[in-house]
Amino acid sequence: MHIFVTGGAGYIGSICVEELLNAGYQVTVFDSLVEGHKLAIEPRANFIQGDLGDRDFIFKTMAKVKPDAVMHFAAFALVGESMTNPSKYFINNLANGINLIDAMVAADVKKLVFSSTCATYGIPEKVPMDERLPQKPINPYGQSKLMFEQVLKWYDQIHGLVHVNLRYFNAAGASASGKYGEDHRIETHLIPNVLKVALGQKEQVDIFGDKHATPDGTCIRDYIHIIDLAAAHILALKRETSSYYNLGTGEGYSVQQVVDVARKVTGHPIPAVAKPARAGDPPRLVAGAHKAQKELGWKPQFNRLQPIIESAWNWHKAHPNGYGD
Ligand code: UFG
Repeated sequence: MHIFVTGGAGYIGSICVEELLNAGYQVTVFDSLVEGHKLAIEPRANFIQGDLGDRDFIFKTMAKVKPDAVMHFAAFALVGESMTNPSKYFINNLANGINLIDAMVAADVKKLVFSSTCATYGIPEKVPMDERLPQKPINPYGQSKLMFEQVLKWYDQIHGLVHVNLRYFNAAGASASGKYGEDHRIETHLIPNVLKVALGQKEQVDIFGDKHATPDGTCIRDYIHIIDLAAAHILALKRETSSYYNLGTGEGYSVQQVVDVARKVTGHPIPAVAKPARAGDPPRLVAGAHKAQKELGWKPQFNRLQPIIESAWNWHKAHPNGYGD
């Protein structure tokens, strides 16, 4: 099977590409390299540099490559940034995504695995969060992903586009080979920022809010290892009908717990300072992922925080400047 991977030079995309190749799939990576990195492109994959905003180009490319399925990772994914620049999120995550699926329909490519997010739920009415919860995003990032899910539903009904929406919780860790890891040009994510302090590249980590409605006052998230996410994508390829799944471990850890575990893993004191809460941040997001386990046969290997942080730390220690671009 030949898989076309948008955003295949990004953090989650690059590791899925590596796992797809290891599992015997043929892969074409399509990436603009605006957020992705040249060195994150698997040498075993074909690479096409392009932007989904270029409608003619994606139509021509899809007609030429004619893959068996598409995995769509290309997107902007910063909650905080989406609260100040919503247009960037609606254009790329929604409008450019529509260019992709129109190109798929035109080329008769009928299967899509979509990188969605638990941010589509907003502040959950209950935790752990299963797929029956209403989707009420509280930031433009989550809204843009939800709108794309809604468009996909119509494309299935009208064009027969089978799609699997994978709603990830917080992706973390690095690839099994140690080659690919998390490097964003502007780093806003918690775990890499905590590890940058341990590497001596930042003085301290800011804790965004210590008065949330959680036991220690800091936000709780469900950190899911990137290798487990990749496994779910590969299982999703086997589905014959459209569906949607939450992907998380079912265990929540607070920002303070992340800092504490990182201190243990790195042996560095990692100074941390409480700062005001970040706009658009729900206090507590923890997955109920039984549906993915039952229907996809998915079982996360990493269900504790320490091995996840160890995996991220090994990559950051070996690549202190990320991909160096
Ligand atoms: N945080 C800090 N200090 C930092 C960075 C983050 O306290 O320096 C806090 C945040 O406020 C949040 C938690 O750590 O409470 C996790 O923040 P991240 O930025 O690492 O991740 P988010 O939860 O904001 O968002 C991530 C992805 C989204 C995805 C979401 C799902 O960026 O794409 O997880 O929960 F949708």
